[in-house]
Order: sequence, then C-alpha cells, then structure tokens
Amino acid sequence: MPEEEIEPIRWEDDRLLLLDQTILPDRQEWLTIDTVEAAIEAIREMRVRGAPAIGVAAAYAMVIAARSVEAPTMSTWLTLLDPISARIAAARPTAVNLGWAVQRSVEVARSASSPSEAHKRLLALAHKTKADDIATNRKIGRNGASLVPSNGGILTHCNTGALATAGYGTALGVIRAAWEQGKRPHVFCTETRPWLQGARLTAWELMRMGIPAELVVDSAAAWLMSRHEVNAIIVGADRIAANGDTANKIGTYSLAVLAKSHNIPFYVAAPTSTIDVGVANGDEIVIEERPPEEVTTLKGQRIAAEGIGVRNPSFDVTPAEYITAIITDQGVHKAPFERALRSAVHQTKAGIV
Ligand code: MRU
Repeated sequence: MPEEEIEPIRWEDDRLLLLDQTILPDRQEWLTIDTVEAAIEAIREMRVRGAPAIGVAAAYAMVIAARSVEAPTMSTWLTLLDPISARIAAARPTAVNLGWAVQRSVEVARSASSPSEAHKRLLALAHKTKADDIATNRKIGRNGASLVPSNGGILTHCNTGALATAGYGTALGVIRAAWEQGKRPHVFCTETRPWLQGARLTAWELMRMGIPAELVVDSAAAWLMSRHEVNAIIVGADRIAANGDTANKIGTYSLAVLAKSHNIPFYVAAPTSTIDVGVANGDEIVIEERPPEEVTTLKGQRIAAEGIGVRNPSFDVTPAEYITAIITDQGVHKAPFERALRSAVHQTKAGIV
C-alpha cells in the first residue's frame, strides 16, 4: 500500500486521540480526548464512527471514566462508575459494538480488587479490543476475498474501511484483500447521503490505497445494475439480529432489494461482535434518528427550503431474505443464518478461529 496505514484511534500519553472524521478529507486533525464528556460528544457527533470504531473508542472512554471516579471503597467506586458507563453506551443506539464494548469493560472492572487495578485492566482491554479488531478485519478480508469478482463491478455503501474500524476495515477490507490478491474489480462507492461517508471517507481511503474507483450518487445504483455494471454488492453492519436481519447505513435496504431484482449477490461483512444474538429479528433493532440539519445543510450552508419538515433515519434494516451471505471472521455464512450466526458467536467467545 503506497500510503501509511490509517489508524483512526490511538492512545498516547494516557489520552485518547481520534482522527476527526467530520472534517475529512479536507483536513486531517486529531482530537485529544481526556474527559468522558468529550468521548461521548465525539461518538454522538460522529467524530469517530462506524460500528467497530465506536466500540474501540468506547473501550478507551471506559479507561477515562475509570480514572475520573474517586471513591473510598471498591464497591462505591463501581456504583459510581455504573451511570457513566450507561451514558457512554447510550451515545448512539444502533451499533451493537458500543454496548458490547462497554459491557465487557464493566465486567473487567468488576473483576478487579481495587480501582487502580481496574484502571490497568481496562486499559489492557481497550488495547486488546483495538488489536483484535484489526486482526478480525484481516480475517474477514481473507474470508470474503473469493466472493469479489475478478474483473466485474462491485458496489459498496457508506464507509466500512479503516476509518470505521481500528484499521483495515470490514466490507472495504474485503475489497482491499481481493485487490491485494491481484483481483481488479471495478469499484463503485456510493456518496451515502446525508453524511457523505462514501464521498468523503471511502473515496479518500480508496485513493490512498491506490484502488481506482468511481463515486456514484446513491440513486444511480439501480441504473448501474440494470446496465450489468455491478456484479456484487458488499456492505458492513451496525447490528445483525440472530435471524440475519441486518441494520446498516440508510440506503442499504434499497440496495439489497435492487440486488435481488437484478439477480446480483448481496454480501454483508462484519465481525462476530456485530452479531446480537439477544435480538431475534430486525424489528427489535433501535434505529437512530439524527438531526434535521444533516439533511437541510451542506458544509453549514442551507440547501433545503425553509420550513420543510425532515425525517432523518440514519440506518435501515435489510431483511435476511435479501442477503446472499454474511462474511465474518469465522467464515462465510449462508441462509438459513440463525444456526450459523449463533455458532460463529460461540466460536469467537470460545477463542476458536
Ligand atoms: O453512521 P455511521 O457512519 O457510524 O454508520 C456506519 C455504517 O453504517 C457502517 O456501514 C457500519 O458501521 C459498518 S462499519 C465497518
């Protein structure tokens, strides 16, 4: 890869550093996060975004939370930590990795005998969450690369690259892995209105990696499919229910329906930590609604007529029946998904690769 690897989340001098994704690709600026409030704000305002990246940032936010609490006894300390953990977990509702990372941190804190030991263990856990995420993404890439067409078109939505994770990426990581194996697919990335994760972030990552690609407006997808220019679609996930229903960036569901009607395979790539076996199906997934200004303005400039109402759901749910396969670090899972997904989660928990 010609450019340095993107590593959007760092821990340096006991502080969390986040590459501010709200201003990429115009400017590359690092935010220094040393309070819980700043960490919550960074997640809520999408300075760090993408389900796995949010999980890693939350693990470090728990380290910051741990050192912000002072109490005479361990049990009081844990009691004071609880509401802070809950606030971090509530910063955004849809990505399961956020609650997953906070819950793991809470369990680690509870297993310690003193606040200082808990602090050390939480930092070790955060570092491990980050390192595991990169290793997991490389496995997803290896598992999914064979599904990428050698010469045909592949379309991806939103940003699922290094920026959306601790590094390497999930769906974009699959494209990258295929590219590293010598495949030369024609890559399309969608703009991803309204936040433009595709135009700003995926396009930036692709150009840094030296992978030629074309940016398309979201509504161009059907036309390209009808012209046989797209041979596969690959997206990430924010939460996968036990039956395979998948919450991902708004617009994913439309792409899946279009893929089915054009007989194009539709793949979801995600780590097993994104599978929520506690949720039976997509109806139980909370969909984040974001501020209207994301739709009515562009770079601070109003583009919509004054007075118009706005609906801004940030995610949608693609029913499992539209998904050809779910690619995880444990393999490529096909329908019926439930058994395969439960087993993948179990294998990861048991440390089986
Ligand atoms: O609102 P965002 O930018 O956090 O949404 C990101 C997505 O929907 C991604 O597709 C998903 O988190 C997977 S990232 C590897």
